[in-house]
Formats: sequence, structure tokens, C-alpha cells
Amino acid sequence: MPVIKFVKEKIEVEVPRGANLREEAIKAGVNVYDGLNGFGKNINKYLNCHGLGQCGMCRVLITKGMENTSPMGTAERWRFRVPVPTPLTPLALDPLPCLAFVGHEDTMRLACKTIVNGDIEVETGPPLDLFGENFFS
Ligand code: FES
Repeated sequence: MPVIKFVKEKIEVEVPRGANLREEAIKAGVNVYDGLNGFGKNINKYLNCHGLGQCGMCRVLITKGMENTSPMGTAERWRFRVPVPTPLTPLALDPLPCLAFVGHEDTMRLACKTIVNGDIEVETGPPLDLFGENFFS
């Protein structure tokens, strides 16, 4: 059975092959809704699209084992590349998934759209570095 290691929380869980990353995080008590560098972390647990791939707030970094996850689908690509508001989450800061994706194209995923097929390591709440060298380049 695949193992998901939540690095920041120091939690490891064994999951069935084909498990949804967001659902397994919730079961393990891990909050994948970090908001903007921790701001909004608690309210975002409730103000999100609940796994529809629309809000982009469940973004995480797969720091190891990306090859053991499902490929990125259309909804996920769209959420990371198109900074438009979604009617499902009017209170969400919609451009943020696109901004956060810059510089993390190889590791960032939406937890709700990621299927786990093998061992992975996950970093929740990746920080948004508005002044990093990659941001405006
Ligand atoms: S829960 Fe909204 S995008 Fe994943």
C-alpha cells in the first residue's frame, strides 16, 4: 500500500492505491488549505470548493514521488494557468493559484485532483514568494 508522508506535520499514512490526496489528508487531520502564507488557514477549511478543482486553495508540493501520482488533468492545468474568478468560491483569492504556480511547475498539484498510486512526500501550504527571483521574470 502506498504511503503518504506529510513533511511539515510529520504524519505518515498508508493509503489504498488510487486514493485521493485531499481526502486522505482530511482523514489524517492535515489541513491542506493554507491560504496566503498561512493567512486564512482556518476559514479556508470551510470556504473552498470541496474537491471540485475550482478554488485552487488545496495546492500542495509533491516533494518526492511525483511519478507515483496521476498526471495533471485539464481542470488542474486550467486552475493553475488561468487567473479568473470562479462562481463557486467568490471569496477565494482566485489569482493566487496562478501566482503560486510560478517556479513550482514540476512539483505543485491540487490535492483534490491528485490520485496516489505509490509512495509520495507532500509539503502542505507552499509559501507564496511575491518578491522571489522567479516571480516577475
Ligand atoms: S478543493 Fe478547491 S481546488 Fe481543491
